[in-house]
Amino acid sequence: MRRLLVTGGAGFIGTNFVHYWRSGHPQDLIVVLDALTYAGNRANLAAFESEPNFRFVRGDICDRSLIEEVLSSEAIDTVVHFAAESHVDRSIVSPDAFIRTNVVGTHSLLESARAVWLSEGASNGLDLCRFHHVSTDEVFGSLESQASPSTEDSHLRPTSPYAASKAAADLLVRSYGHTYGLQVTSSNCSNNYGPFQFPEKLIALTIVSVLQGRSIPIYGDGMQVRDWLYVIDHCRALERILDSGRPGISYNIGGWAPRINLDIVRLLCDLLDVAFVRQPSLRDRFPDAPPARSTPSSSLMRHVSDRPAHDRRYALDPRRIASELRFQPEFTIEEGLYQTVQWYLNNDAWWRAILTHHQYSDWIATNYGSRPRPGTPTDGMLASAGVRDTT
Ligand code: NAD
Ligand code: DAU
Repeated sequence: MRRLLVTGGAGFIGTNFVHYWRSGHPQDLIVVLDALTYAGNRANLAAFESEPNFRFVRGDICDRSLIEEVLSSEAIDTVVHFAAESHVDRSIVSPDAFIRTNVVGTHSLLESARAVWLSEGASNGLDLCRFHHVSTDEVFGSLESQASPSTEDSHLRPTSPYAASKAAADLLVRSYGHTYGLQVTSSNCSNNYGPFQFPEKLIALTIVSVLQGRSIPIYGDGMQVRDWLYVIDHCRALERILDSGRPGISYNIGGWAPRINLDIVRLLCDLLDVAFVRQPSLRDRFPDAPPARSTPSSSLMRHVSDRPAHDRRYALDPRRIASELRFQPEFTIEEGLYQTVQWYLNNDAWWRAILTHHQYSDWIATNYGSRPRPGTPTDGMLASAGVRDTT
């Protein structure tokens, strides 16, 4: 039986991880520690709140005394560290929070684990304690179109403040393994998608935009390549690492599904169009969606000005986790996107609540309001977020 501290467990991947872990390990203690920033939502975990072996702690990973208190009082033996500022565009607009949470916060967790797990008389044997850091393929930077995928030993070449902060955290985690003998592992994963993703990321944003009849912003030419992984497959991979990963080692987790952004958006539009044909009653709930007006959803796609320093291509070589831990994704991209579209169709109350929040409309205005939109008609996205189009 494990006693887990899941940081960032109210965010997108953390929420999916808690649901996944609970279904396979009902006896384990799960303590979620989350600051509930704009990206965190405690209601995602409502199903577990009354369980005796679940706790929710609202708190900041930079708060070392709180973390040490939780690690000791709950006799935590496994930290699964998701908490982060995670959106690249926000890191370009305001990097401070990224350095604070992703770098200082990760350091604070490591120091707390060191203080509690390595103290004299620690209740858990050090060998049984595991600190896992959830990181990203973005630390390896952009690849030329013909370049080999990044391995775990590739150079770190982050380009955005987000990616740089995650690379710094990766290095800190590694150093605590080498220097203090802390049992650390990390994983660098490609782009996730699935239920509970905040509608600022491409896939979730595309779906909710279509369902509201708003334009879908495509940065630059839309030919950037990302490797996509359904979030449940990410959780399965993390389980393998926690069970059998070698301490001190990092594992790439890839989806074997590289796609250009235009193709991902078109696939989503097609799935939504088909859903509206198959389920005519959707028209009642989403009257502004194009399929309801006999126009394809793809008509909402709009090229807007590019993300600064936009990485052209990410690709991971995931053979280490495949050979050592026998991990392969189970969901094809078509299955995963289908499940995701269905989830957003069935859970519109979840994302509508986010859309009505001023923090969300402020972000839409900040990120998209100043992007020139070459030759596009009035932007429904800004209009419906209550923002005046001044371009
Ligand atoms: P998210 O933004 O949806 O969730 C982040 C969570 O962390 C939120 O619940 C937020 O409230 C919490 N948080 C933020 N600052 C905090 C702080 N100071 N203290 C405590 N909690 C704090 O992020 P996500 O997409 O679920 O990503 C989770 C992790 O996975 C991140 O570390 C990210 O870098 C990594 N990752 C994400 C992807 C992806 O495609 N989303 C891919 C690879 C790796
Ligand atoms: O690669 C893993 C990373 O994937 C994670 O570490 C990050 O936390 C996660 O946010 C994600 O980063 P990306 O920048 O790749 O994801 P995003 O959904 O923001 O963008 C995906 C692609 O779509 C990227 O090329 C930018 C583009 N895009 C994004 C948005 C929000 C658009 O064209 N238009 C948009 O409005």
